[in-house]
Amino acid sequence: MIHEDHHVAIVLGTRPEIIKLSSVIRECQKRKIQFTLIHTGQHYSDELDSVFFEQLELPAPDYQLAVGSGSHGEQTGEMLAEIERVLLDVEPDTVLVQGDTNSVLAGAIAASKLPVDIGHVEAGLRSFDREMPEETNRVVTDHVADYLFAPTETSADYLRDEDLDEERIYVTGNTVVDAVREHQALAAKKSTVLEDFGLDSGEFVLLTAHRAENVDDRERFDGLLTGVERVAVDLDTEVIYPIHPRAKNRLDEFELEVPERVQLVEPQDYLDFLELERAASLILTDSGGVQEEASILGVPCVTLRDNTERPETIDVGANRLVGVDPNAIRDGAVEMYETSSAWENPFGDGTAAERILEAVADRSE
Ligand code: UD1
Ligand code: UDP
Repeated sequence: MIHEDHHVAIVLGTRPEIIKLSSVIRECQKRKIQFTLIHTGQHYSDELDSVFFEQLELPAPDYQLAVGSGSHGEQTGEMLAEIERVLLDVEPDTVLVQGDTNSVLAGAIAASKLPVDIGHVEAGLRSFDREMPEETNRVVTDHVADYLFAPTETSADYLRDEDLDEERIYVTGNTVVDAVREHQALAAKKSTVLEDFGLDSGEFVLLTAHRAENVDDRERFDGLLTGVERVAVDLDTEVIYPIHPRAKNRLDEFELEVPERVQLVEPQDYLDFLELERAASLILTDSGGVQEEASILGVPCVTLRDNTERPETIDVGANRLVGVDPNAIRDGAVEMYETSSAWENPFGDGTAAERILEAVADRSE
């Protein structure tokens, strides 16, 4: 059992962190562990933020730092100062962060200078592309963390390759499996998203693209959209694209045209998005979480990036890396469209949150 006055602070700030920490928050509630929820405010639009708190039935944050958007330095710096202030006030024993955003980096650095343990959920992911801000965030966070919660043996090996202490490494599976398992049936029962958008199950392709390296570069974003258009024509299919605000802003700024068979819609809530994933014949994405969910749900995935920090999805045959060259996108999509989905989900059995809190409990005794 965890020591009864052990106090956990959970720092989060963006859509994927809210989703992937939901099972950890629930596990704290189940075990009656005292926890403080600190929201950096990196994401603040309702459709990226509050909709997930409501739908996943999460408690309101104890602290809302409302940092908002900005350059990397500005955003991270402001979060760092604010998180430190809260941690000095709350004095937790352990701080948990998840993933690779600027909120994670700020949480980890703030905690690293204080007498508190740091747990990194989703440790050990590597794209080996230092141009990605997310790669810097994950590497730095792993190197200051006391608990490295690696989702797979592959990510644990990357940590070992960097000489991180074996005693800090725990292979837990990915909490995204917990989230999918908890909401999959509810999504199938409750969501009306297919009717709402006039889609038939198995008869459309789902697209998400929001990565800075794709959408902030006019040429790459254009190549990506041209490739998606070729997929729609070759497979004779509709494409639905719930568009992240970063991508929508760039699309407008660059005056790029949305291909005819691509239906642009607002970002979806979790149940509707899960239902879109489940019912899609194919998923095209540059998202990390969506690559994982596709492999969990048994839907073939094509990743619109030059690298991935989720090589497990490729190894099991669930995913293919194609970059943003239009013909490579079309060829990869045609190939994956015909693939059978008989792979095994590489991200664990949906008990990651239990394992994470078990590890914290063991050390706090
Ligand atoms: C961030 C993460 C990225 C993650 C993504 C999840 C970093 C460096 N990047 O990218 O790894 O995949 O979250 O979705 O941490 N905006 C809104 N409303 C919001 C938030 C943002 O309109 O609630 C717009 C603003 O114009 C903002 C832009 O989106 O400038 C980018 O937001 P930001 O938080 O900087 O990065 P993301 O692209 O969301
Ligand atoms: N997601 C969602 N609605 C959407 C798009 C994505 O609920 O319209 C969820 C998706 O199910 C996954 C997570 O958001 O769990 C992925 O977040 P995102 O792609 O923003 O970030 P990344 O995983 O790339 O960091």
